[in-house]
Amino acid sequence: MVIFLSISALIFFFFLFPISKRLFQKRKNLPPSPPSLPILGHLHLLKKPLHHYLTTLSNRYGPILSLRFGSRPVVIISSLSSAQDCFSKNDIIFANRPRLLAGKHFGSQYSSLSWASYGSHWRNIRRIATVEILSSNRIQMFSAVRIQEVQSLMKDLFRDSESGKTVVELRSRFSELTFNVMMGMIAGRRYYGENVVDLEEARRFREIISEGSMLIGTLSFGDFVPVLGWLDFGGVEKRMVRLVRRRDEFLQALIDEHRRRKKKVDSSLSMEVEVEVEKKKKTFIDVLLSLQETEPEYYTDQIIKGMLSTLLAAGTDTSALTTEWAMSLLLNHPDVLEKAKAELDIHVGPRLIDESDLSKLPYLHCIINETLRLYPVTPLLLPHESSEESIVGGFNVARGTMLLVNAWAIHRDPKLWVDPTDFKPERFQGPEGAKEGLKLIPFGHGRRACPGAGLAVRMVGLALGTLIQCFKWERVGEEKVDMTEGVGLTMPKVQPLKAIYKPRHTMLNVLSQL
Ligand code: HEM
Ligand SMILES: *[C@@H]1O[C@H](CO)[C@@H](O)[C@H](O)[C@H]1NC(C)=O
Repeated sequence: MVIFLSISALIFFFFLFPISKRLFQKRKNLPPSPPSLPILGHLHLLKKPLHHYLTTLSNRYGPILSLRFGSRPVVIISSLSSAQDCFSKNDIIFANRPRLLAGKHFGSQYSSLSWASYGSHWRNIRRIATVEILSSNRIQMFSAVRIQEVQSLMKDLFRDSESGKTVVELRSRFSELTFNVMMGMIAGRRYYGENVVDLEEARRFREIISEGSMLIGTLSFGDFVPVLGWLDFGGVEKRMVRLVRRRDEFLQALIDEHRRRKKKVDSSLSMEVEVEVEKKKKTFIDVLLSLQETEPEYYTDQIIKGMLSTLLAAGTDTSALTTEWAMSLLLNHPDVLEKAKAELDIHVGPRLIDESDLSKLPYLHCIINETLRLYPVTPLLLPHESSEESIVGGFNVARGTMLLVNAWAIHRDPKLWVDPTDFKPERFQGPEGAKEGLKLIPFGHGRRACPGAGLAVRMVGLALGTLIQCFKWERVGEEKVDMTEGVGLTMPKVQPLKAIYKPRHTMLNVLSQL
């Protein structure tokens, strides 16, 4: 009897289970799915970089694909129209985030802006981010920080070249630049280069940031096979906890310092002077502390710390890597570089570009769009999760399904783009080109789309524009710049970009006065 039972169990497992699963899938009208293993699902198939592999799978099985990462059902979308479906008609249904280990720790128990699921708490902090911190008005108020940092980079490059240097490694320059810009806006401090207040503090914080992105980057199997999570292989969770403690201590010290300074200003100055000082010196921390004064129960220090770390994590690497991809593309396409230079010479002339010039530089903007098309630094956006059953592209998608949108594949879809893999900023020129722009989703779409897109385009535009204006750029050697995409939380170039440069004659005056 026992033997009979176990044999029938075996038969069921090996023969009937796959067939019944297939029938079940048909009946439930689920999206197509490659064969999978028990427990692991499709985890064993996943190769890196993930967005390449998912593109291959979609080419084979269709633009809407259902997979299982361990115990988690996942749907992968690689068609623009289905992506737009998910983020317009079904926007609220897909506005949750999956509860992954990184969100538990780095997202303070899924409470931070990027990790919180849809609901009144998320709507509240999202409103603070878009209205109080990343609105175009507020961003405008901080343009001096960005200009100062970009000019300081030009000054360094110029000095190095005066002392005989001809080659520069750009990746570290760009990440120092964006980090200084973000910290300048957040706390009014620099962490690289001259006038760094506290070198030791700066060193500690950079360590925290780089270990953080490494830890999030390591795909945690515990997220998909819970048993492995309980065992905490490699101590990933322990390291996250320790790192988050150090990060929060650091941010708390910054907040406390701002609070002390604010008290001093409040008690020592008359109203008018105070208003002046506030206007000039206000940082993101000051903005958040003012909110705290009006509603202390809601805007706790914990909420403020969560907001600050979210902005840093979301804004720094993304902008730096996009600038690096753009410069790499320009070095491989000297004709495009020349055209950008001509546009700058005509519309700005021999003075340094300001952010207000960016609106006069449509070709530069086309270059940024074309860079984001070919190299979207978050190729799968951020993961979403459905809160209800819904229909996408004619297929049923169950509640609690993780949604990944393959922006990289959509940006290279031959059905959408002429010469999809060619770098052609011209495709975005003119009224016809503006329509092409609507097919881009590097910042996502709908209510969870990136709230920092405006800031990002300004940062990248200002940096690129100034670099092109001030220096002549060339590749190191005959070979094209290697454009291989690497693995990470954000999509880096495998080889950090190096370039040959020298100051342009027309800009020598300006550069020597920096
Ligand atoms: C080139 C630079 C950037 C790219 C490509 C980028 C891209 C993205 C993408 C694809 C998402 C997720 C959208 C989704 O869930 O579907 C996102 C979310 C987010 N981004 Fe950006 N981003 C960039 C720069 C920035 C900057 C500069 C900031 C702010 C300082 C920022 C802040 C955020 C935040 C807070 C979220 C989470 C929003 C939410 O979950 O509600 N990003 N970004
Ligand atoms: C760039 O793309 C955005 C959409 O991502 C679009 O709104 C804008 O018009 C485009 N700009 C240019 C110059 O192509």
